[in-house]
Amino acid sequence: MRIGELRFERGIFLAPMEDVSDRPFRRVCRRLGADMVTTEFVSSEALIRKVARSHGKIRLADDEHPVGIQLYGNREEALVEAARVSERAGPDVIDINFGCPVKKVACKGAGSGLLREPELLLRLTEAVVRAVSLPVTVKTRLGWDDSSIVIVDLAKRLEDVGVAALTLHARTRKQMFKGEAAWEWIGRVKQAVSIPVIGNGDVRTPADVARMFETTGCDAVMIGRAAIGNPWIFPRAKAYLRTGIDPGPPERAEQVAVFMEQLREAVREKEERKAVLEMRKHLSAILRGEPNISEVRAEALQQTSVEGVRDVLARYLAGREPVGVCG
Ligand SMILES: Cc1cc2nc3c(=O)[nH]c(=O)nc-3n(C[C@H](O)[C@H](O)[C@H](O)COP(=O)(O)O)c2cc1C
Repeated sequence: MRIGELRFERGIFLAPMEDVSDRPFRRVCRRLGADMVTTEFVSSEALIRKVARSHGKIRLADDEHPVGIQLYGNREEALVEAARVSERAGPDVIDINFGCPVKKVACKGAGSGLLREPELLLRLTEAVVRAVSLPVTVKTRLGWDDSSIVIVDLAKRLEDVGVAALTLHARTRKQMFKGEAAWEWIGRVKQAVSIPVIGNGDVRTPADVARMFETTGCDAVMIGRAAIGNPWIFPRAKAYLRTGIDPGPPERAEQVAVFMEQLREAVREKEERKAVLEMRKHLSAILRGEPNISEVRAEALQQTSVEGVRDVLARYLAGREPVGVCG
């Protein structure tokens, strides 16, 4: 499949996730094999008001391409201006978020709120497509609720206004993250349009990646929650697609080393305490699946400094080493 000049063969993408898909994590995922990454969503209004935090979010590293910058908003002038500002940051794609279900976004008529106003959604999209020369992609959901699933018709109209690819999280806004993603809609959308369709929702294992490709015919698969604290899902899924065998995660020491590298980079970019708190999601996911690990996890998650986290993890790893036999 192609998005503008980018070409992918059964691509596996990292999902945009607020407070998760920051630059350090995107770089780790790219290095380990994610074919494309996207920033956390960025408010178009905040970006054009020059809010420092928002400008920080669109700063990209040289080694993370291909990367998309994701914007949200519902005011045409703001979204267009934010797209132009974002284009200058040098991404490969501008992505528009029409899927965010959280109240502060959706109930103010942005994110998935726009699924109730398809005409406005299309007008905003078309305006952004015209305003930038980069490919514009859209990430959205099925509809507002079960009685208003609009995605098949909407996908066709998005294609008509020039969208380069569509990512579908196969849930309604009302579902938030509950229930199961209805993958059959990904297949229906794929049948209805000729632009690439990126399937998303409830892909938890390498086998799920293969199953989503097979059952929906989608062009790429996007992974969100299953990548938190588990960027190895990308190389594992790639190996699985190639060989049918999941090589499993690396040794715990390797996982901790990658985590610490990501944490150190995060601290170079953000205030230490904030970086450590945000990294808890990753840490909590890494420290699972072993007997007696819950105490270590509880202690590690209480830390607010890099040093504190490092010490807990070092003691944990030392305690796991096989005891040498003397004589
Ligand atoms: C913590 C968190 C933050 C998220 N932030 C965003 C976001 O900024 N933009 C977006 O389009 N989706 C966001 N999402 C939704 C994910 O991109 C994805 O669509 C959803 O989690 C379903 O995929 P999964 O089942 O693989 O997690 C977020 C999800 C989570 C769990």
